[in-house]
Amino acid sequence: MNPFRWLWTYLRKHRFLLILAFFLVILFTILNLIPPYIAGVIVDRVIIGGEMEFFWRLIIAIVAATMVKSAARFLYRLTFERISQDVVYNVRMNIYQKLQELDFSFFDRTRTGDLMTRMSGDADAVRHFISWVAFSLVENIVIFLLSLAILFAINAQLALALLLWTPLIGFFALRLSVAVKPTFFAIREQLSRLNSVVQENISGNRVVKAFAREEHEITKFYRENDNYKQENLKAVQVWSKYLPLIDTASNGLTVVLLLVGGLMVMQERLTLGELVMFNNYLWTLSNPLRYLGWLINDLQRFVAGATKIINLLTEKPRIKNGENPRQKESLAGKVEFSDVSFTLEGHAILREISFTAHPGQTIALVGPTGAGKSTIVNLICRFYDCTTGEILIDGIPIKELDLAFLRANIAGAMQDIFLFSDTIEGNIAFGVPEASFDEVQQAARIAGAHEFITRMPEGYDTIVGERGVGLSGGQRQRIALARALIKDPAILILDDTTSSVDLETEHAIQKNLRSFYKQKTIFIIAHRISAVRNADLILVLKDGRIIEVGKHEELIAKNGYYSTVFKNQYGDFDAELMKEAK
Ligand SMILES: Nc1ncnc2c1ncn2[C@@H]1O[C@H](COP(=O)(O)OP(=O)(O)O)[C@@H](O)[C@H]1O
Ligand SMILES: [Mg+2]
Repeated sequence: MNPFRWLWTYLRKHRFLLILAFFLVILFTILNLIPPYIAGVIVDRVIIGGEMEFFWRLIIAIVAATMVKSAARFLYRLTFERISQDVVYNVRMNIYQKLQELDFSFFDRTRTGDLMTRMSGDADAVRHFISWVAFSLVENIVIFLLSLAILFAINAQLALALLLWTPLIGFFALRLSVAVKPTFFAIREQLSRLNSVVQENISGNRVVKAFAREEHEITKFYRENDNYKQENLKAVQVWSKYLPLIDTASNGLTVVLLLVGGLMVMQERLTLGELVMFNNYLWTLSNPLRYLGWLINDLQRFVAGATKIINLLTEKPRIKNGENPRQKESLAGKVEFSDVSFTLEGHAILREISFTAHPGQTIALVGPTGAGKSTIVNLICRFYDCTTGEILIDGIPIKELDLAFLRANIAGAMQDIFLFSDTIEGNIAFGVPEASFDEVQQAARIAGAHEFITRMPEGYDTIVGERGVGLSGGQRQRIALARALIKDPAILILDDTTSSVDLETEHAIQKNLRSFYKQKTIFIIAHRISAVRNADLILVLKDGRIIEVGKHEELIAKNGYYSTVFKNQYGDFDAELMKEAK
């Protein structure tokens, strides 16, 4: 979509206010052109002609024009500022809503920093366009054309002589804007690089300290900081090269005026007052041309920023509801994979996966890192759609189910745990905000978290940082588990959820789940055989395929991959993978 047409969708509701504001802009520019004219009249009729009584009327006219002018300017600046704030508020709102709508694959291929820029720098370019660029363009064009008309009316020959000179100012101003543009671009790029160094350093400060790499980090920052300074200095160089040229060209107008105008006064083809008027109007010819370059740059910045925002806003989620999404009273939780394959950017990640999980069963997924275990559970949640084959839940193809309904009936504690900067209670109740404190405690008990939470000085009111700072890995895992359990879902997914929990606690959690969730389908992904040996069905995955399937005893009897891992007593699939690699 065209950036201007897009902007209009936000501006339309302010159209009457906008018309009024632009009217005030034009009023302001007209009033701005009155005092220079009057000054010339004073020279001719008061100073030279001696019409004293005329003088006071002219002075009052100047004061009145100035007062009305200031009021107009105040009003339209305020109006454009308010409209721009309102527009950018709505733009940010729409971007944020879009981010909620987009799916995993979008976030896989988009950098967080870029999305932050849509919200900050790009949105600001839109605000700046409304609050400054749009009216400045109108103001400058009107000033230039109107004053030119006045000058031609006073004396066409002199006006023409000045007009012939003006392209020179415009030429240098445009050259400056062209030359300065890449340096602005480089400054912005370098600033975002500088920011990402700082951001990474803060996020990774534990790693930096643990490896005593502070010096290295400082050197890295020094380099980027220095680059930033250099880029700014380059811009200043471009500036200082062109500004004197622009100034000289502007001052050239005075020379033309004195030469041509002076000559005309001597030949009595121009009055002294008219010469003063021309002199007073010189800025109205040079200023608009000087600003032209800046305004064009700002305009381009608006177009670039708006285009990026439009691209984001028109991004379509690949995962969405079908024609007539289906819902049921409740889900039993039967999950069927029938010949499911999944390819991501040309890489086959899952191949021909088939299995059935019945309500009440515990299904374990085991295998080395990268085997595709997490991908299987991502497909159940429809975070991605499978490439071929079909996934059915309670016999209904997953793509026909209402997406919100599907996800309401699945809960998982995913591999990379994220806790919000909120209280522990708030984090556990994230999916069920109306949950009572008893329910929160109950979920925490089953997840084996209640004990350590109550031992903390602030208990359930303890604030955990955005990454759960202050909690051990195992504690965070248990809070994430409680957050999943409180949803009381038909299908429960534990992706590596108890890997950092000690064996004894893990055992207790599993026993709790068994007794509280008799009717549910539970998927457990784990590395330790101890965590999966009681499962009703164990799927052994490798390179995206199921290589063995059965109960613990059956798999041991098969004497295959699973039993090798078990017999080596490591009980760990990654250890086996390492040995194979040797
Ligand atoms: N978002 C993604 N983009 C590209 N490749 C991915 C993505 N997620 C997973 N993969 C790849 O898919 C394969 C399986 O990953 P995953 O299911 O996470 O394995 P596991 O959970 O068994 O360790 C790996 O080779 C991994 O590199
Ligand atoms: Mg995984």
